[in-house]
Amino acid sequence: TNMKTENTVWHQQQVSKFQRAQLKNQRPCLLWYTGLSGSGKSTVANAVDALLFERGCHSYLLDGDNVRHGLNGDLTFSDEDRIENIRRISEVGKLFIDAGVIVSTAFISPFSADRQMAKKLLEDGEFIEVYIDTPIEVCEQRDPKGLYKKARAGEIKDFTGIDSTYDVPLSPEIHIKTEQLSVAQCAEQIVAYLLSHQYIK
Ligand code: PPS
Repeated sequence: TNMKTENTVWHQQQVSKFQRAQLKNQRPCLLWYTGLSGSGKSTVANAVDALLFERGCHSYLLDGDNVRHGLNGDLTFSDEDRIENIRRISEVGKLFIDAGVIVSTAFISPFSADRQMAKKLLEDGEFIEVYIDTPIEVCEQRDPKGLYKKARAGEIKDFTGIDSTYDVPLSPEIHIKTEQLSVAQCAEQIVAYLLSHQYIK
């Protein structure tokens, strides 16, 4: 056991996550978006979140803006810090699942070992890997924040896809090839998955 938690006692909560979820008529899960910078993770995740809200589902989105600036404001883009970034996000995702929520996370999460770790933290069927598959040439062409340009110029180091690794997901539950689709079509594909697998009604 971890030394730091040696003397802490886990309390069994009176209300289970299934009771909380039942109240909301949904099966809690974690939609784990992964993809290169500029692939469209946040855009698609936001569109899905809006569709879920319209349907009366209780959902929440964790993404760079509310996590990298807050909870993980102390972390850089070194391999070590990216791993810690994903570890904390997984733990927060798990808490949201316990609260009965359909939670989404939109981070590059470049290392498959860390995505596996997130999956292992959860129960069967709770982890849904969503691969936002956009070729790097397209991401680089879009370059919404001008970061690829800076990375190519050597002004940013350890940039994913350039001088830092991205492990392509080998068997994602949902594979979205954004090139041929509109944002709305991508979002509908994900909602269709949630419906057909009975996470939502
Ligand atoms: S990770 O790898 O999962 O820890 O990354 P994440 O927390 O999703 O943060 C990615 C966003 O940070 C910006 N940024 C960088 N990305 C990749 N590599 C480097 N070196 C880097 N430095 C800053 C970038 O805007 C990413 O935004 P997205 O939304 O992914 O395009």
